[in-house]
Amino acid sequence: MKILIRGRILNFKKEPLSISDTESYLYLDDGFMMIEDKKIVGLKASGELPESWSSMDYIDHRPNLIIPGFIDVHNHFPQLQVIASYGTQLMDWLEKYTFPEEAKFNNRNYSKKIAKSFVKTLIENGTTTSVSFCSVHKESADALFREAEKFNMCIVAGKVMMDRNAPNAVLDTAQISYDESKCLIQKWHKKNRARYAISPRFAITSTREQLAVAGALKTEFQDCYVQTHISENQDEIQLTQSLFPERKNYLDIYLHNGLVGSETLLGHAIHLDMYEQSQMSEARAVAVHCPTSNLFLGSGLFDLASLKMKGVRTGIATDTGGGTSHSMLKTLADAYKIQQLRGYSINPLSSFYWGTLGNALSLGLGDEIGNFCPGSFADFIVLNSCATQLSKIRMNTCDSLVEELFVLQTLGDDRFVDSVYIAGKKQK
Ligand code: GUN
Ligand code: ZN
Repeated sequence: MKILIRGRILNFKKEPLSISDTESYLYLDDGFMMIEDKKIVGLKASGELPESWSSMDYIDHRPNLIIPGFIDVHNHFPQLQVIASYGTQLMDWLEKYTFPEEAKFNNRNYSKKIAKSFVKTLIENGTTTSVSFCSVHKESADALFREAEKFNMCIVAGKVMMDRNAPNAVLDTAQISYDESKCLIQKWHKKNRARYAISPRFAITSTREQLAVAGALKTEFQDCYVQTHISENQDEIQLTQSLFPERKNYLDIYLHNGLVGSETLLGHAIHLDMYEQSQMSEARAVAVHCPTSNLFLGSGLFDLASLKMKGVRTGIATDTGGGTSHSMLKTLADAYKIQQLRGYSINPLSSFYWGTLGNALSLGLGDEIGNFCPGSFADFIVLNSCATQLSKIRMNTCDSLVEELFVLQTLGDDRFVDSVYIAGKKQK
């Protein structure tokens, strides 16, 4: 079935270099988008409609802005109820709030219930692709994959592998983590829009044996992703070094086990030294910035300029429940503030590029998501910049697309996401 959509349409082609880089995107202030069988057929300006389009009924989203759905490349689905937990930094936060909550996901029904709420929350916020850590229990991964499948949503996820330094209720063993991950890969990887991420939680919670097993899985299933955490917090880094004195640095622990390549997503990557940054660049691995989490847990200020200068690929993500919002708009707002503290103002075009096409490219999925090129999935959102009384007043003085994007990012949240379409089907 064909569907025709009308509105203001913004589609990035490449990374914007400045606020005046009009080559980096296509903007149609009155545009049409044709969808057929879940995918984009093409875009046209209202003055250039072919006969076959102009005779069709259309869904009118004017005056709202249509962009590709947001892609959140790092979050934790079993932390839906951990969000907004007071008074700790990373290691205490894991012990006091996170591990006890994640322990509940050995229960299939609990996993299902939270998966339902989690996917609903993503959609409310305009996130149409999610890269998620599940708990150590295979039931949690099953529940999330199944729930995402109901919406035809692109999901990358994996059960965490962890066999030490946490309560028994959230531990597996090297062998169990291998067997269960393999079973989940065979069940879900590349089934419809799902993909599997091999997910050793971080070096602290895995023995050498388990990290070796994670590497073996990556060798066996080369097109799976790897997701983990790196250099988020000073205490974490110290403990990691004391657990792996034989390794040169934090990154080297993952490198040694064959876990660092172009499908590797390394969450946080705040305190990497220059050598680690160069190694990451060489390996084409992705540093995933999690700004609301880094502020909330007091972890540190992501060094975007240095990583970019070294040529490290980057992504941007919520990291809920360490992160404080499922909204990628609020995430972009905090990324801007963190770079302000580093003396650099991220331009609003770059921000919106980052949360859409940029993240799609960080997943190597630029031909499927994050853009409106023919053949990409019709995952898109409709943003209303005048959703609140304040933003409506602010928009009176707004006279460019760039300014509107900055208002959306600075004041926006789920209220500004008017509609959400996944694979051509309206879900909000
Ligand atoms: N490092 C290891 N596990 C986690 C987690 O769940 N959240 C964050 N922010 N960092 C981690
Ligand atoms: Zn995380």
